[in-house]
Amino acid sequence: MRSRFYSKILALGMAVPPKVLTNFDLEKMVETSDEWITERTGIKERHLLEKEEVISTYAVKAAKEAIERANLSPHDINLIIAATLTPDYLMPSLSILVQKEIQAEKAGAFDLSATCSGFLYALVVADQFVRNNPDWKVLVIGAEALSRKTNWEDRSTCVLFGDGAGAAIVSSSEEESGILDFILGADGSNWHLLTLKGGGSTYFPFDERLPKEEYYIKMQGREVFKIAVRMMEKIALELLRRNGLSSKDLALLIPHQANLRIIEYLRERLELPKEKVFVNIHKYGNTSAASIPIALYEAAKEGLLKRGDYLLMVSFGGGFTFAGVLMRW
Ligand code: COA
Repeated sequence: MRSRFYSKILALGMAVPPKVLTNFDLEKMVETSDEWITERTGIKERHLLEKEEVISTYAVKAAKEAIERANLSPHDINLIIAATLTPDYLMPSLSILVQKEIQAEKAGAFDLSATCSGFLYALVVADQFVRNNPDWKVLVIGAEALSRKTNWEDRSTCVLFGDGAGAAIVSSSEEESGILDFILGADGSNWHLLTLKGGGSTYFPFDERLPKEEYYIKMQGREVFKIAVRMMEKIALELLRRNGLSSKDLALLIPHQANLRIIEYLRERLELPKEKVFVNIHKYGNTSAASIPIALYEAAKEGLLKRGDYLLMVSFGGGFTFAGVLMRW
């Protein structure tokens, strides 16, 4: 039986490194052009960590902002879930580093790995905890430093990614609002189309069986593109259908920011006007698990979400993973 409680997002935070890499900078690094990148992806620039920086710095900044905006103290946080593929270390986890830094002394903490769908997966996990423990406050983070896993000699991938972090505080609500429904999906049958093999337990560090480029993200972009558009559309339509809604009821769609053409395709399939689909890919590129919380933060800040509005968030990522969350703001 469903708990009588719903979970809602109390507040948001975000942080990106100040360093910006533009398409014109990339023109000097690989054989590409601002025109190609803009036309094929919609990306104009992305924020990247400096060599000596770590992504936990930005996860902590985003977390602190979200806690402050929620008028809470770190002591109020019961659980920290950090969605990431690129923690500072494999051990300790990113969530533990955040826990230490913000001094959330009563919080449990774990990382969640679901690639670019990580934030929505983590939001759904938080939803389960909060509905069953209505006095809990869960800090959900999406933070990623894909620049560290990017092959800067591979023009087909290095133009795509950026670094950053977003955070949300999830708490309970007795009103029928907040997270109304979700879909979490996975399909491993095409896992080989998007991989990051080095750094797992199959190949030990500096294993000469593994070519150097396998320590970076490898992708068959065109194939990934086709799967992404198909699955995002399927999830979006299914969530609307089973909640008796049509796309006209949506105030805003926030899709994972991987490629503007994927977003445009989805917009057309859902017959949504441009102003109802949030896009910030031109500023940040694909920040993986950080993409949706950063977009949500900016959408809320721009006043695009009003109380009672229907919001749909959809994502896809390596694996493949898929996720959709339907909310009433
Ligand atoms: N600059 C200039 N040319 C480039 C280039 C670059 N940065 N990257 C690739 N090209 C070239 C290719 O070599 C190819 O040349 P060819 O026709 O001479 O062989 C041509 O552009 C077309 O390549 P293709 O890979 O078919 O382009 P595309 O239109 O599919 O766009 C992506 C490539 C990666 C932008 C696109 O496939 C994509 O976004 N896929 C989804 C990726 C994604 O979202 N991944 C993240 C999952 S979370």
